[in-house]
Amino acid sequence: MSLKISIIYGSTRDGRLGIRFAKYLTKEFINRDIEAVLIDPLNMNLETLTKRYNDYDNNSAPKELENIHQELDSSDAFVIVSAEYNHFMPPALVNLLNHFYIEYQRKPSAVATYSVSPFGGVRVSSPLRSFLAQLGMPPISAMIHAPFVNKNFNDDGERISDDKDERHKEFIKFAEEIEWYAKALKTARNE
Ligand SMILES: Cc1cc2nc3c(=O)[nH]c(=O)nc-3n(C[C@H](O)[C@H](O)[C@H](O)COP(=O)(O)O)c2cc1C
Repeated sequence: MSLKISIIYGSTRDGRLGIRFAKYLTKEFINRDIEAVLIDPLNMNLETLTKRYNDYDNNSAPKELENIHQELDSSDAFVIVSAEYNHFMPPALVNLLNHFYIEYQRKPSAVATYSVSPFGGVRVSSPLRSFLAQLGMPPISAMIHAPFVNKNFNDDGERISDDKDERHKEFIKFAEEIEWYAKALKTARNE
């Protein structure tokens, strides 16, 4: 069964680093023959929420919003790549996700966090998982966390840490799990 996964990244910060991890995840899923698409709010000119996509009359949504709608709507699962900003989600991520709702329904999500600290952003997982559940994309238990994102990945999204083979095994387990749920729910949605 072919699968499409949107990798949703949410930092628009000057000098942002998490884009490295987001690119890494996107490439790794593509290596597994998944249609992985990186959704990046940086150049989208997405304003702070005034209307959800669904609140626009037919065909009147801004082009950027229409494009993201198409990507999300045709996805079978979502990987949410989040930093922790004071143990919470970056505002651009919350804003992006809040623009949509129907597109997520009955599709699984998985949490991928990172930071420049040894904790890998793990503390944002709890608020993020509650948010994703409410959005209608239930978060699976498997998660992936990337500490020292500034040192362990390069700008091209390659993992450059000494332990990259071990970490690759961790990614495979994470990927197998979200793909299992993506297939199961896609099958159920098509029944
Ligand atoms: C507003 C703000 C709050 C932050 N809060 C935390 C935090 O709670 N925990 C942490 O480990 N790092 C924190 N950091 C450091 C981030 O891990 C680091 O800046 C990371 O690169 C942010 O992701 P980004 O570069 O993709 O925006 C914070 C950074 C910013 C800008």
